[in-house]
Amino acid sequence: MKVSKRVAGVEYAIRDIVSAARDVQRRGVEIDYLNIGDPVQFGFQPPENVRQALINAVNEGENYYAPSEGLPELREAIAKKESAKGLSVSADDVVVTNGVSEALDMVISSIVEEGDEVLLPGPYYPPYASYVRLRGGTPVEFAMNLEESSVDMEDIESKITPKTVAICLISPNNPSGVVFDKESLAEMVRIADEHNLYLICDEIYDYITFDGGEFAGVGGVAGTAPVIILNGFSKVHLMTGWRMGYVAFNGASERLDGIRENLPKLARVRITTNLPFQHAALESLRGPQDYIGKFVSEVRRRRDYIIPRLNEIPGISCAMPRGAFYAFPKVENCAERFGGDKNFVMSLLERKGVLTVHGSGFGERYGSGHFRIVYLPDIPVLESAMSKLEDFMTSSSS
Ligand SMILES: Cc1ncc(COP(=O)(O)O)c(C=O)c1O
Repeated sequence: MKVSKRVAGVEYAIRDIVSAARDVQRRGVEIDYLNIGDPVQFGFQPPENVRQALINAVNEGENYYAPSEGLPELREAIAKKESAKGLSVSADDVVVTNGVSEALDMVISSIVEEGDEVLLPGPYYPPYASYVRLRGGTPVEFAMNLEESSVDMEDIESKITPKTVAICLISPNNPSGVVFDKESLAEMVRIADEHNLYLICDEIYDYITFDGGEFAGVGGVAGTAPVIILNGFSKVHLMTGWRMGYVAFNGASERLDGIRENLPKLARVRITTNLPFQHAALESLRGPQDYIGKFVSEVRRRRDYIIPRLNEIPGISCAMPRGAFYAFPKVENCAERFGGDKNFVMSLLERKGVLTVHGSGFGERYGSGHFRIVYLPDIPVLESAMSKLEDFMTSSSS
């Protein structure tokens, strides 16, 4: 039977690579999974009060269809969180979604038509390109400096065409760990404002930053620009499996009135999100926040181990990530030595049982020649994976 070309063409490198790992595992090789950015699969869990809020909601009969845009108290608490980060936002500017994934789908579906272009950070989190393509648009990558956590503003401006409808930012970034400073964010806001483009900012890793200093969200510099925040509870609040996210519109931007009015129609056609989990998300914002700091210091410990270790391995170099929980090392002469990053990742998997994701899965242009490591596993697992990587690199040396 027919399937659409657009659906047949959808790829998601992070999960697609898992089926290759299963084949290797069936041959008796033990796999080190460094491919999925899910803290809950590495022993972190939502705190007791949040789990209890979920159970209480079920037991108290909160099992019906919630309002499509989300539970009013939760929208209020989200508005408070984003206001504290600087955005001018009220509960009416918030739509609760099934994870940031659905938020992204709704935003892209609301603004992209056949032939439109969307600017994405190179390298980017793959669903950004998938959703743009599904709506008939074209993803266009702009350059980022991974060492300096900065964007090449000239490059971005040179890539804006009459077909461009939006610029996407992910900070802290997946896959690179780049975190933009206030000045870069202000520049991006200026560009979006001047060219009348949506600025879509994914801040799902907002409180997972290292090396001191408050997280600088785009909210603090958004002014009246058409800024849309995507955020959720999967990473910082350790709820990947609970599928809670949201869209928050800049309440000070009248240019967002059209999408503010129309995007909720998409929320209505899919009826609602899970009500008991919305109660749990509410508790995660209202209850004690100390678990976040504990989680982040565990992640920092792993980062401080893995980055120097990667840089000791001949043929590998890696910039210091400033947030999230990903490293994006570069492989020297990857094309000549290994036939490209996909082959590199496949032979590392087959020969050593270490599962990572090929960089080109995050965009050919800036991702090729790299691979992504999730450094959430415990340090002994990371140590063993790094020794295997080192063996692999030295035994493959030309
Ligand atoms: C930048 C970014 N946005 C969104 C998501 C997906 O978030 P959610 O679990 O809320 O759908 C991820 C997951 O890895 C991500 O890295």
